[in-house]
Amino acid sequence: MEENKYSSWKIIKRLLSYYNKKKYLLLSSCILILFSIITEISSPIILSNFIANIIKNHTVKLTSILYLAISFITLQISSSLLCYFYTIQFNSMSTNIIKKIRIKILTIALQQPMEFFDKKPISSVITKITNDTESIKEFYDTILSSLIKNIVLFSMILITMFTLEWHMALITSIITPILILIIRTHKYHSKPSIQKIKSYASQLNTKINEIISGITVIQQFNQEKKFIKKIATLNKKIYFHKMQILKIDGILLRPLLNLISAILLSCIVMTLKLFPIVTLKISVLHAFINYLRYLNEPLVIITNQQSILQQVIVSSQRVFKFIDLPIQKYGEDTQLLQSGEIKIKNIYFSYPNTKKNILEKININIPDKSFIALVGKTGSGKTTLSNLISGYYKTTKGKIYLDKKPINTLSNKTLRKSISIVQQEPTIICDSLIKNISLGRNIKKKDIIKVIDKSQLKTLVNTLPKGYKSVLGKNGESLSQGQKQLIGIARILVSNPKILIFDEATASIDSESEQKIQKILSEIKKKSTVIVIAHRLSTVIDADMIIVLNKGKIIEKGKHKKLLKNKNLYYKMYKNQLKNK
Ligand SMILES: Nc1ncnc2c1ncn2[C@@H]1O[C@H](COP(=O)(O)OP(=O)(O)O)[C@@H](O)[C@H]1O
Ligand SMILES: [Mg+2]
Repeated sequence: MEENKYSSWKIIKRLLSYYNKKKYLLLSSCILILFSIITEISSPIILSNFIANIIKNHTVKLTSILYLAISFITLQISSSLLCYFYTIQFNSMSTNIIKKIRIKILTIALQQPMEFFDKKPISSVITKITNDTESIKEFYDTILSSLIKNIVLFSMILITMFTLEWHMALITSIITPILILIIRTHKYHSKPSIQKIKSYASQLNTKINEIISGITVIQQFNQEKKFIKKIATLNKKIYFHKMQILKIDGILLRPLLNLISAILLSCIVMTLKLFPIVTLKISVLHAFINYLRYLNEPLVIITNQQSILQQVIVSSQRVFKFIDLPIQKYGEDTQLLQSGEIKIKNIYFSYPNTKKNILEKININIPDKSFIALVGKTGSGKTTLSNLISGYYKTTKGKIYLDKKPINTLSNKTLRKSISIVQQEPTIICDSLIKNISLGRNIKKKDIIKVIDKSQLKTLVNTLPKGYKSVLGKNGESLSQGQKQLIGIARILVSNPKILIFDEATASIDSESEQKIQKILSEIKKKSTVIVIAHRLSTVIDADMIIVLNKGKIIEKGKHKKLLKNKNLYYKMYKNQLKNK
């Protein structure tokens, strides 16, 4: 079933379906091709008539030479013009279709559930958008037009040959089954290599991506040689398989076809000699020899194009399989949350790629406008829990209610507008500070500047060369982690979410700035539910409830004083931090 949907024929049909809205343009291009073929195959007939004329009249008339020259030049010019127009039409259609496919891939990628990117590297998506679509583009701008043209050309030459002399044409048509056999053999031997090349190219992209983004670590740990070796190995494999395909092409394409047509020609001449059933005219024989030569060209191109078509099909399979992936499903409820109340009922969770439960038996009741702290050792599941509350992942078992509604009934828009997370390391886009805070949302510049003043970003603005308008580098390379976190905080201060999650957002901020952020937090607490995941326990002493997670389970819950009295994990962690001060 699965295989069937991506079989070669289904893929070609699907590629063709992109022409649905451009049927007339496609048709007009095909008509142009047809005319260009007619201009191409008329010359041997004209030449044959010319020879017949000479033989009949025993002289060469000046008028017939002139006639020949003019017809040849006219045919050549028309053929070139027609070719020019249909090439342009096919190319403009292909550019449009590829643009559509690229946008579709990107749209699907953006709507993938988070777990997709846990399993697949981002660069595999980039490969699909760049390499694979580039390969598919060939289908639309060369393969299709060339296949249409050459198949029609081949058939028309055969038809013309039959009308000229059917005995000889019959012998010539033996070439068709031979051609099909060659194409099948070629496909059989080249397909595995083509698939391997695509897969290695994708791996190469992933590796290069890894190297560029991790270049500092690679240099620091002196790993340059190792990575270069890995790239070289992949390149070698690609080279090997490309050579394999070249060898198959080299044997099966032009040389073999040339040989076959030479044999055919000898067969024709011999048949005519041995069985003089037809009185052979010199002019017809001349046209025949010409057409046999002509016949070879479309055959070579058809075989060649079908080999490229194989590559296109492999790329299309990868792209269509991706386009058909299920996107993240959200509920229908578009109403914004009215309160920040959260109820977590007996949830269990494991990541799709791990069997182990990351969270187990979690029960929490969080009233509206409360201040909750999540603490625990690294890897205890704090970030995972905040991802579940934000609806990025679905619970394996159990239910989460936000404002009394089950989380799976809420729409993506509701979730994103009602819940905000300030992450451990916010992503910085290559744009101005203002744009980095507004992130495309409709927020007044005045409000953003107000927030900048509030969130301690003012000092950062003062150090930037162009103030608010300065463009922050790619991924914020020029910013410290603390500054990035401040931008992350500013992003949510400009909106009014009902639930706010700080995931160790104040970990890299100096204590003076942190105190000021604490002040901002106490303002927010009046309007929203605030969940703070904190490493520094001093920041959560005032929390209405502190939840201590250990290995995915809640082992303690309560206010600071109560937890200290418990003398359990929280007590130990707190004591440890005091000591280290
Ligand atoms: N995307 C993921 N896929 C698989 N396992 C993950 C993923 N993210 C985190 N984990 C695992 O889940 C556990 C909890 O991680 P996390 O919630 O990030 O902990 P914390 O935020 O408390 O440090 C860890 O063992 C971690 O390895
Ligand atoms: Mg974490």
